[in-house]
Amino acid sequence: MKKQGTSVMNCVNLLREAQSVAVLSGAGVSTSAGIPDFRGPNGIYRRQYDVDPERIFDIDFFLEAPSFFYRFHREFLTALEKITPTYTHRFLAALERDGKLKGIVTQNIDALHQQAGSQSVLEIHGGVWSSRCISCGQSYDYKTSYKMTMAEEVPHCCGCGGVIKPNIVFFGEAVMHLNECQSLMHKADLLLVLGSSLTVAPAAILPSLCKGSIIVVNKGYVSPAYLAPDRIDIRIDGDLDEFFQELNTELQLGIQ
Ligand code: OAD
Repeated sequence: MKKQGTSVMNCVNLLREAQSVAVLSGAGVSTSAGIPDFRGPNGIYRRQYDVDPERIFDIDFFLEAPSFFYRFHREFLTALEKITPTYTHRFLAALERDGKLKGIVTQNIDALHQQAGSQSVLEIHGGVWSSRCISCGQSYDYKTSYKMTMAEEVPHCCGCGGVIKPNIVFFGEAVMHLNECQSLMHKADLLLVLGSSLTVAPAAILPSLCKGSIIVVNKGYVSPAYLAPDRIDIRIDGDLDEFFQELNTELQLGIQ
């Protein structure tokens, strides 16, 4: 069993020694920007809807009743227009500029890593930046699908009238960029798992592919189902922005 510590200095030392850092990020990295997570105390899956909120991203339910997803999605797109990257996003962009961070696998669809300046980002659950008609496959860019989503209860294809769906990965669909995600994990000598309950596979399986050290920073429960607790070198149960601010008092990266 590996020794677990909670000291930020231990993390600083691991980061100083590392040559190839990878990140797996989850919804917790964006909560301080104003995007709720799923399973935290104020998470989306804790809300009371007339339908089980876990069905928002269920492909079978989307095909049956797309208006439930679109009710949630309009709220998400409205929030997205107003938010900016958090300290954590900006720290990670600086770590990439510094040459240490080789890539981020994110389960998030908010593109805040890219907005913060990160170049190497793999959106394993897709994103909202493009959409397509589920009947004829016609593509729609963000601006067009945004306008349609705000104007109609369920946006429909201009060509065939089919339902339009953003290129977000729903439960029951294949994830994206899996080979690249796996390769990033294999090559990493240090992996940072940030703001994820590690509940949803295959994303949650990825950390177990890393042969290097693993730091997990997450406020609250992290599932042991896919990453055995004895594979975690350092587990910080605290706020991400506070953690990276403390880390940077030592590392002194230029945060933009
Ligand atoms: P979860 O909501 O399952 O986990 C987010 C974790 O971040 C929770 O444990 C929170 O307590 C923690 N957290 C929140 N704010 C934090 C902060 N400021 N500092 C530190 N920790 C914080 O989200 P994910 O693990 O990302 O999938 O969820 C994985 C997938 O489940 C999502 O991508 C989505 C969802 O169903 C799809 O939609 C396909």
